[in-house]
Amino acid sequence: MSFSKQTIKDISLKGKRVLLRADYNIPLKANGEIADDYRIKKSLPTVEYLLSKGAKVIICSHLGRPTGPHDTHCSLAPVAKRLQKLLDKKVLFAADCVGPEAEAAAKQLKPGEVLLLENLRYHPEEEKNEDSFAKALANLADVFVQDGFGVVHRAHASTEAVTKYLPSVAGLLLEKEVDTITDAIQKPERPMMAIVGGAKIADKIEILNRFIDLADIVVVGGAMANTFLLAQGLDTGKSLTEPEDVPLAKDIIEKAKEKAKNEHFIFYIPQDAVVAKQINSHSRTRVVDWGTLTFADIENYPKRPPHEDSKIAHDEMILDIGPFSGAFIAGSIQLAQTVIWNGTMGVTETPAINGLGPVGPFAHGTELVIEALLGQYGHRPYSLIGGGDTAGYIEERRLVSCFDHVSTGGGASLELMSGKKLPGVESLLSKNKVQSSKA
Ligand code: 3PG
Repeated sequence: MSFSKQTIKDISLKGKRVLLRADYNIPLKANGEIADDYRIKKSLPTVEYLLSKGAKVIICSHLGRPTGPHDTHCSLAPVAKRLQKLLDKKVLFAADCVGPEAEAAAKQLKPGEVLLLENLRYHPEEEKNEDSFAKALANLADVFVQDGFGVVHRAHASTEAVTKYLPSVAGLLLEKEVDTITDAIQKPERPMMAIVGGAKIADKIEILNRFIDLADIVVVGGAMANTFLLAQGLDTGKSLTEPEDVPLAKDIIEKAKEKAKNEHFIFYIPQDAVVAKQINSHSRTRVVDWGTLTFADIENYPKRPPHEDSKIAHDEMILDIGPFSGAFIAGSIQLAQTVIWNGTMGVTETPAINGLGPVGPFAHGTELVIEALLGQYGHRPYSLIGGGDTAGYIEERRLVSCFDHVSTGGGASLELMSGKKLPGVESLLSKNKVQSSKA
């Protein structure tokens, strides 16, 4: 796939003040320390390229969803420090993204210097896509570079309106993300498998429908699978479900069944689960197997297992996929050539008891998927990991470099995969347009 928009490689940068939109919306710990700097690291090639061409680099981003500058926990100041360390170069910081301080700092910047502006969302005009705010941002620079892939699905002042006032092109990360994801969706090596987890069906309805259209195997996991189980009439106890989405789940199951009538297609909903009464490292867990009844009752063989082994009690919750479902999914991965994965299989946030072992009690299903994707059972398919929680978990496990592509975008990668137009990409200059046409 060749990216249809102009990039920083298509324009002259020497001595130019470049406003670079990055997505530094990163998780911070309660003490304000950076919990995960994946997005900062992935922005480095663009920043370094701009610096190497003699540009003056002014970076802007949002962090979190603050209501104003009083939400100090959303300050980008810790990001400036980390960026400085990663670049091994001084990074200046302006305490506001527009106004006299930002203007003075931008003006004084010399070629090869970097300035990071404070959180764009400290100004409500950012999310309102307001022209006057976009103009104030544009006044800081000569050129706009969009490289915040994670935010290009938003039509905000720093993703859309700003492009009215400056020649606007893509950065290297944006180009790579769009090309890689589009290729995997449009011309995958088959069989193509999609694994979709996470909490809400409503958030992923479009992507599920698209995957049913495009993929050969679709697997549903995570809390979202609970609503599918509810739709199939299973008593899910205290599990997180969304009863209002049961009709959506039923429609998806019907659509999948229709496809399976006509072609080789698998739509898989877990058949067993790890359940517990509480979500903590010390929870007593058990496996409930409502679909396969594989746990033979040895003493009374060949009788069926006891009733409670196939039933979730009213005070229990599904917190991970069970071993049978894990094995089925890992086995299916052995058949696939391309696997697109978005959403963990269980509650991966719960830590291991007293730090024993690398993963928590409800992360084993997710780990099984990781092992299968990385070729532990022989075959290693091409793996594309959607951003958000899945990328966060993989980063935490220090496994990012083991996969073919781990996206920096959560919602953005889902919207791109769903076939939607991304405002932050659409508004950039097309390859066949000359730069001056937007200046
Ligand atoms: C993300 O983390 O998905 C992006 O930074 C967008 O953030 P938002 O969902 O708050 O707009």
